[in-house]
Amino acid sequence: MKNQTKIFYDNEINSDILNNLQIGLIGYGNQGQAQALNLRDSGINLIIGARSAGNAYNRAIADGFEVFGVDYIANNCDLIIMLMPDEVMKDVYENHLEPYLKSKVSFIFAHGFVIANKLLRIPDSSDVMLLAPTGPGRILRNLYLEGQGLPALLAISSDVSGNALETCLAYGKAIGCARAGLIETSFDEETVVDLFCEQAVLCGGIPGLIKASFNTLVARGYNPDLAYISCLKEVKLISDLMFEQGIAAMRQAISNTAKYGAYQVEEKIINAQVYTKLNSILNDIESSKFARTYLESYENNFIDLNEWLSAEKNSTIVKTGNELKAKLKF
Ligand SMILES: NC(=O)c1ccc[n+]([C@@H]2O[C@H](COP(=O)([O-])OP(=O)(O)OC[C@H]3O[C@@H](n4cnc5c(N)ncnc54)[C@H](OP(=O)(O)O)[C@@H]3O)[C@@H](O)[C@H]2O)c1
Repeated sequence: MKNQTKIFYDNEINSDILNNLQIGLIGYGNQGQAQALNLRDSGINLIIGARSAGNAYNRAIADGFEVFGVDYIANNCDLIIMLMPDEVMKDVYENHLEPYLKSKVSFIFAHGFVIANKLLRIPDSSDVMLLAPTGPGRILRNLYLEGQGLPALLAISSDVSGNALETCLAYGKAIGCARAGLIETSFDEETVVDLFCEQAVLCGGIPGLIKASFNTLVARGYNPDLAYISCLKEVKLISDLMFEQGIAAMRQAISNTAKYGAYQVEEKIINAQVYTKLNSILNDIESSKFARTYLESYENNFIDLNEWLSAEKNSTIVKTGNELKAKLKF
């Protein structure tokens, strides 16, 4: 197990290397808009790549950027920042970037998915870098404006120029992340850990446990409003405590009844079967089985995903939450 995490900070980084590069950022969405605005406010020149019919195009123009087609970015930029959704990158790359690329071009990604799963034929002459902020673009932008930063993960998978680390550090500084710290990793590690935590904890495990606990209470006749507040709303209070000070400090801040209940129940819920399932989820990510299933669903217009989302939208817990929003100032 790796126990020496290398973290780079603002004061040890010089961003000058970016001044010599024509930078093109493709995908003016969640991450793209925040990163572009932070770069510009840090004095870095860049142009935006977007498809002409999309919202991103108009949003980037409204924010005062010069906006071009993706093929123009391919043809004119030394450093391309790839901030499209992961599932569209292969198609955009093969049809709008690859045929037009300059002879010497480098890439920065914000998630390792397409590289770790070997979806793109990146030229052998390219530097390939990862600068993955550890949160949404809105937070990246807000923290930057407050003089703070969102930590980011950094990795280099190809360093033909010999300057890949310097370039990636400079980029991390310019978008404000080095103020908090740039944590060194690899494309594979970032991809696996990010996907696993999204699935097992953040977007699958926690909401799943909230829904199951809510449903159990409501099925036994308890008030759905109360069940919603206890099972869902209070998650924020406990997660804030863990975020700020860790698990042990969270235990200190809760009642003895809550602590004792946790001690009695935690291993009943998170038992050996759960560990078996967690390992199976991890296997599917490591073997690219998850990536294949995900891309198949995308090719099929996410029909299965949309059915699941629309059933969830019509569930008692979502309806209870919507009704509570109007009644509760919390
Ligand atoms: N979201 C996060 O919190 C987060 C955090 C860390 C890393 N990341 C990574 O950041 C990258 C971008 O994610 P995101 O959430 O920022 O993406 P996003 O907001 O869903 O999409 C970004 C932009 O991509 C454009 N786009 C979509 N299809 C396109 C196409 N075929 N050709 C050209 N442009 C296209 C869209 O523009 P249109 O208006 O034209 O549709 C959209 O504005 C991903 O690699 C993601 O894993 C995201």
